[in-house]
Amino acid sequence: MKIQYLQSQSQRVAFAGIFLILVPNFFPNLFDPLGRAYPSMFSEWNAPSAKHIRLLEGALHQEISEKQQLDIWSPLVYQGWKPCLDSASVPFNPEKSRGYIQVFLDGGLNQQRMGICDAVSVAKILNATLVIPHLEVNPVWQDSSSFTDIFDVDHFIEVLHNEISIVKELPSMYSWSTREYYATGIRPTRIKTAPVHASANWYLENVLPMLYSHGIAAIAPFSHRLAFDNLPKEIQLLRCKVNFQALAFVPHIRMLGDNLIQRLRSSPSTKKGTNDERGSGKFIVLHLRFDKDMAAHSACDFGGGKAEKLALAKYRQVIWQGRVMKTQFTNDELRQQGRCPLTPEEIGLLLRALGFNNDTRLYLASHKVYGGEARISTLRKMFPLMEDKKSLASDKERAQVEKKASLLAAVDYYVSMHTDVFISASPGNMHNAMLGYRAYRNMKTIRPNMVLLSQLFLNETIEWPEFQQAVEHGHKNRQGQIRLRKETQSIYTYPIPDCIPSSRSAVEALDNALLRRAEIKVKGSKRGRVDSAIQDLVKSVKLKGDNATAYRLLGECYEKKAMKDDAVNAYERAVRIDPHCVAARDALNRLG
Ligand SMILES: *[C@@H]1O[C@H](CO)[C@@H](O)[C@H](O)[C@H]1NC(C)=O
Ligand SMILES: *[C@@H]1O[C@H](CO)[C@@H](O)[C@H](O)[C@H]1NC(C)=O
Ligand SMILES: *[C@@H]1O[C@H](CO)[C@@H](O)[C@H](O)[C@H]1NC(C)=O
Ligand SMILES: *[C@@H]1O[C@H](CO)[C@@H](O)[C@H](O)[C@H]1NC(C)=O
Repeated sequence: MKIQYLQSQSQRVAFAGIFLILVPNFFPNLFDPLGRAYPSMFSEWNAPSAKHIRLLEGALHQEISEKQQLDIWSPLVYQGWKPCLDSASVPFNPEKSRGYIQVFLDGGLNQQRMGICDAVSVAKILNATLVIPHLEVNPVWQDSSSFTDIFDVDHFIEVLHNEISIVKELPSMYSWSTREYYATGIRPTRIKTAPVHASANWYLENVLPMLYSHGIAAIAPFSHRLAFDNLPKEIQLLRCKVNFQALAFVPHIRMLGDNLIQRLRSSPSTKKGTNDERGSGKFIVLHLRFDKDMAAHSACDFGGGKAEKLALAKYRQVIWQGRVMKTQFTNDELRQQGRCPLTPEEIGLLLRALGFNNDTRLYLASHKVYGGEARISTLRKMFPLMEDKKSLASDKERAQVEKKASLLAAVDYYVSMHTDVFISASPGNMHNAMLGYRAYRNMKTIRPNMVLLSQLFLNETIEWPEFQQAVEHGHKNRQGQIRLRKETQSIYTYPIPDCIPSSRSAVEALDNALLRRAEIKVKGSKRGRVDSAIQDLVKSVKLKGDNATAYRLLGECYEKKAMKDDAVNAYERAVRIDPHCVAARDALNRLG
């Protein structure tokens, strides 16, 4: 079964995505000569054909029940908070500014976006004036779009004017402080040593003195240089406000995005008068990052045969000089760990299994698909109404963004913000950014269960009905249900709870969410889930104080863990708070 072997190989390599995206941060190439040699065109292709033939047949002939259709298109239920970031902080007085903060941001659009949010926060911590951040030319995309080319700078300044002062340009007395100035020598006003995830104190101790003595500090590298934990609540809220409110794209990108969305919603296939609930007028965005960088870095095999494998290995060598850790694993191992990005075919099968069908409008958010149309032909077979920005935009519209990778990415970003359902085939900055934005707005986002899927795809005997059921079951709780940020996790990926202002109703909402989540976990029987439910419950009690439901659930958790004394304590507490709590009383009787 050579074909099968190759195919599964191919699936195994992709998760390198995460690392790939982090690499530029940790090896910042700021001020390196740009334009490394990127070997891009090899004749390395054997067009990959469909690999999961039987599943594909099953998918193409599947009947979707009405209930399934309603389920997949229904919006998420209210999970306890409304997005609201009106801060009541004391208006910032520019006259009290300690000086100017300048940052230089590398990476792609999403990474730069996080850098901008962090830069605003650092300026706030220091009471400094922020200079509109400088976006470095992206070495892969060679795009030199500036902040003002991508983001609506006046809106940015206006939304934040109560929080910090921002200037578009330095005043003339500091006009010497340019990128070129820092690129050509050691300069006393440059901060070069900001550690990854630096604390607020680090900035106060190391940057504030420079502001006092020079009136300006240029921080480079700056990406990922502000911690996610142990910051004042107002700083966390500010980050959210920058990310979700202040950073709007320039008007022509928003307009183009709106046009594309409108075309997607009013597709010819939309039958007038059909039940809107079943998906007519709705669409899904599939983010597919399947470029050569990703393919090579993942170290997985994507079914393009020996030529492709060699080409990717060579590319890896040239770009990362042996720094790709994934290469020590075989394709099968990587796949079993869920570390290979799904191929377009696989993501298509996943979507069909969830109940999307050949009526579904699918917008492909993608830069460049490695392998071109051949790579996505199977996906297109499953979703004949597949569109992308090229197919939907007019020549005139296209001309505004042509060859500008950042603007093209911005259009995809905008459409993804507004879609009914978002799914990403690979982890990475775009996936994370959307996860965060859509979680904050309580919008549906499907997170592929990579480990489950790789098991299913490695099973050579599985039939469509079993596959379909397993996929559906394995994604029930992966559609945007609340996930609270854990320590060290990014606030831009997990904005809850930090982005909820701590008004009473928000705390209550959060507590509700915690309790509901804990309840779901307690019902499941897995050991790990019980531990994590206990964490939720303890957090909930800390947030809102005594609550009988919380203590009753805690009792159940301890009972499951055979911690009888703790269980009895918790149940007793529940009964003390609410003498009518029958479940707790029964439990106490049961435990003697
Ligand atoms: C910034 O301003 C606030 C409010 O005026 C003040 O409490 C804080 O100490 C200032 N911080 C610095 C570093 O100047
Ligand atoms: C869509 O699928 C149905 C069966 O599920 C089939 O009858 C129909 O021809 C398909 N339409 C297209 C455009 O492929
Ligand atoms: C493959 O799937 C079939 C049907 O679901 C199942 O019975 C079998 O155990 C699976 N094989 C492996 C190796 O997981
Ligand atoms: C306990 O929490 C639940 C769920 O959040 C809520 O419905 C209930 O009113 C709370 N009880 C008390 C006494 O606060």
